[in-house]
Amino acid sequence: MTDLCDIGVIGLAVMGANLARNAAHKGFGVALYNRTGSRTDAVMAEHGSEGRFVPSHGLEDFVASLAKPRAIVIMVKAGKPVDAVIEELLPLLDGGDIVIDGGNSLFSDSNRREAALKQKGLRFVGMGVSGGEEGALLGPSMMPGGERDAYERIAPMVTRMAAQVDGEPCATYIGPAGAGHYVKMVHNGIEYADMQLITEAYDLFKTVYGMDAPLIATIFEGWKTSPLDSYLIDITTEVLKKTDAKTGKPLVDVIVDEAEQKGTGRWTAANALDLGVPLTGITEAVFARALSGRRALRGEAEKLLPFEAPAGRTASQADIDAVRDALYASKIVAYAQGFEQMTAASKDYGWGLKLGEVATIWRGGCIIRAAFLNRIRDAYAAKQEIPNLVLEDYFRDAVLKAEPAWRKVVGLAVEHGVAIPAFSSSLSYYDGLRRARGPANLLQGLRDFFGAHTYRRLDEEGHFHTRWSQDGAEQRTDRPSEGGTPRS
Ligand code: 6PG
Repeated sequence: MTDLCDIGVIGLAVMGANLARNAAHKGFGVALYNRTGSRTDAVMAEHGSEGRFVPSHGLEDFVASLAKPRAIVIMVKAGKPVDAVIEELLPLLDGGDIVIDGGNSLFSDSNRREAALKQKGLRFVGMGVSGGEEGALLGPSMMPGGERDAYERIAPMVTRMAAQVDGEPCATYIGPAGAGHYVKMVHNGIEYADMQLITEAYDLFKTVYGMDAPLIATIFEGWKTSPLDSYLIDITTEVLKKTDAKTGKPLVDVIVDEAEQKGTGRWTAANALDLGVPLTGITEAVFARALSGRRALRGEAEKLLPFEAPAGRTASQADIDAVRDALYASKIVAYAQGFEQMTAASKDYGWGLKLGEVATIWRGGCIIRAAFLNRIRDAYAAKQEIPNLVLEDYFRDAVLKAEPAWRKVVGLAVEHGVAIPAFSSSLSYYDGLRRARGPANLLQGLRDFFGAHTYRRLDEEGHFHTRWSQDGAEQRTDRPSEGGTPRS
């Protein structure tokens, strides 16, 4: 039969429908199924003429409309709904069929699903898809993980559906099991940090310099020709420029200042804690969203701990450039930390991630797409293993150049009581990173004092304990610190 479909999509909310349309636009036959049949009908009524679609109201018909081995993309809410769809599909599938989860699933769920399906002779691909509604339709960045042969089967479709940059698709095989969803999770974490840094720059302009939204928009617009050039900077300009039809004010001024979240940033931060990776930028961004959510408390606090906005200082071009440079340096730190986290995960989970390829497929289609990713790609082209991107030539030069501005901006915000957790924690991380000898020697002394946790000496191998409260003598011990050494 020639008219069997190449790919099936289950879940036709906007992301699923747009991904299905994308596949159809590229010439693939697409089977459609949605739990609520009226949604399938609506998608067909609106877009049915855009390509070869085969809609079904029942899962059996849907499965029967697909060429074998079947490739089925699940586009439903992450968590239990994904398991529920897989459960329903299982009795209808044949050995070798491929179930692809294209949602924002937790990577450990993808590890579990991959193993469970493998036991049943089925293949699973956990595929991160980034780019929002528009990306899904016009070309997202796609991060598939699972068995390589399963990826090979879907690669011709995935690479055609993905965004293309300089003739290269923004999709590649990421690694086994949940590796694809893991990389998408870190992408989202970086997205959180990037957006937090942008909002902190906005707050500095608004609160310290008393600028209005349209004026701030022109500043962000000007950064298009700087190394900050990115999708997020572009849409910041758009959002700041928008006038509210109802009030005539900038729309951003009537939006409630509470950031919501679906979980991927939090997962990234929690996983960094598990791996022992200092992921300060992303984690501060998650906490900043949490604090923003405590709006009533903030309202009460402002009454008790009055905040006085500084009388608008006039910003010189040098002041504006300083914020730009501080933002860039902090952004480098956030990316360096995210890439360090992926390096650690790759080692600990045995995934063999190719981080140069990750940078390559993030150059287009996804939310954090940016000119800057070319620099990360170049760094990995020159060197396979990078302990920390900040130490690579291009980034090292950039942070050194930005350093005076970075300190000035953080100091200014602290002086005026403007919270800049991502700017300041990135600077602190940088300052901690470049100290060959930090202050944790004292910390080890304290741990040994109250818990006999032992310490190591600079001048001698081995583990030592001092009998601080007894005779004060030091003894060598075979017992290493129970906490173990941190990730080096
Ligand atoms: C993307 C986005 C997408 C989604 C975020 C929003 O890459 O296309 O990251 O996945 O918009 O998950 O996340 P929050 O709701 O947590 O901000």
